[in-house]
Amino acid sequence: MTAPRDSATAPNTQIRPISCQVDTQGHLWVGGCDSNELAKQFGTPLWVIDEQTILDGVSAYKDGLSIYPNWQVLYAGKAFLCLAMCKLVDMLDLGLDVVSEGELFTAKQAGFPADRIYMHGNNKSESELSAGLIYGDVTIVVDNFSELELLAKVASQLGKKARVLFRVIPGVEPDTHQHIKTGQHDSKFGIPLTQIKTAVEKALSYESLDVEGLHAHIGSQAQKLEPYLENAEILADLAEQLKKELSFELRTLDVGGGLAIKYSGSDDPVGASSWARGVAKQVIEAFERRSLSLPRLLVEPGRSIVGPSGLTLYRVGHCKELPGGAKFIAVDGGMADNPRPITYQSIYTAALANRADCPPATEPRSIVGKYCESGDIIIKETYLDANSGDLIAIFGTGAYNFSMASNYNRSPRPACVLVKDGSAEIIVERESNDDIIRNDRVPSRFSRK
Ligand SMILES: Cc1ncc(COP(=O)(O)O)c(C=O)c1O
Repeated sequence: MTAPRDSATAPNTQIRPISCQVDTQGHLWVGGCDSNELAKQFGTPLWVIDEQTILDGVSAYKDGLSIYPNWQVLYAGKAFLCLAMCKLVDMLDLGLDVVSEGELFTAKQAGFPADRIYMHGNNKSESELSAGLIYGDVTIVVDNFSELELLAKVASQLGKKARVLFRVIPGVEPDTHQHIKTGQHDSKFGIPLTQIKTAVEKALSYESLDVEGLHAHIGSQAQKLEPYLENAEILADLAEQLKKELSFELRTLDVGGGLAIKYSGSDDPVGASSWARGVAKQVIEAFERRSLSLPRLLVEPGRSIVGPSGLTLYRVGHCKELPGGAKFIAVDGGMADNPRPITYQSIYTAALANRADCPPATEPRSIVGKYCESGDIIIKETYLDANSGDLIAIFGTGAYNFSMASNYNRSPRPACVLVKDGSAEIIVERESNDDIIRNDRVPSRFSRK
């Protein structure tokens, strides 16, 4: 692993993967590979993940947290998860957040150690809870009272003592899109501050539960540090209350993830290392001020680790200009491989991967996808002077692209390739048309006699 980068150069503050370069022919390179060769070899659309950017992102978090005595970085798998990513996360000694049986199954198949897995979700089923406990010593992040009772029952039936964190609604709102805020008072995730004491008290009465501590995640793509500092103070207040009123001392405090990445020039997120150092410092001060001993500190970033490592390569198909002047560059993917623009009006940055040195166009145009929705627009306004046959790279697509992709319009999902030091390996195969119809069934009465 390379030396940690300082905050000004942490990958989450850069639009491009850290290994990106342009050669004398104007070809964009990533991970020591010419993106044009990657497109030829693996086809387009193609998700490309730069391993070095992931390593540097993890180093930035570890560097920031090093001021704290006892900590662990958990990678939030929802951002991007497959067998290879689980293996990499394990090799880096991170923990892993999962939110479904599918993510848990992926981790299991990759041999990820159960005692570093944390199960989240606001509606965990009996089958999901059992699967977690049967796999081993996973920690369950309890979201509500009904789940608490179900977990106590399932753990008792399995003869286990389930390790538990409680998800708190801290009432803190970060500066992000409404759909990805989670810490506000009316959030669907977690237990209100006023009910945490009752929840902990109840959990302490169950033989089958082992209460570790508290968790609060306030949202995603949050650019500023301040809401996290406020969150730390609120959690310290709660810890003080639990100690005074229940003689319960936190062993673990999970302050969530959600740090933003730089998708475009208008984003200015705090660097991962500064974020981690700032949060750790606040927890130390808040707990010491209340004469509480320091719990183990967990942070759980997803986007800021894998997001900046990714770019998507698209081939330009048809370009057109309408009589009113609107110009369109249509590419061979779109909302099925990247649903973020249509879902959150997300802004992306593009480059011409085969002619990166090409001067900008004088008039703006839109890069649009091929799917049957007018909202399938990847970039509404760009000055890329792209023509049919060009290769376009969209940066910052490592998180919440592959993991949120669909088969809309019965489109096979693209391949995903991991690049490092000139080697490129498929980590997720491209789907085929056969995959598209694999689970289709035709009622026998539809057959012609
Ligand atoms: C509980 C929890 N932890 C961590 C994350 C990771 O967030 P991000 O990918 O923005 O870091 C999420 C995502 O929203 C989450 O719900």
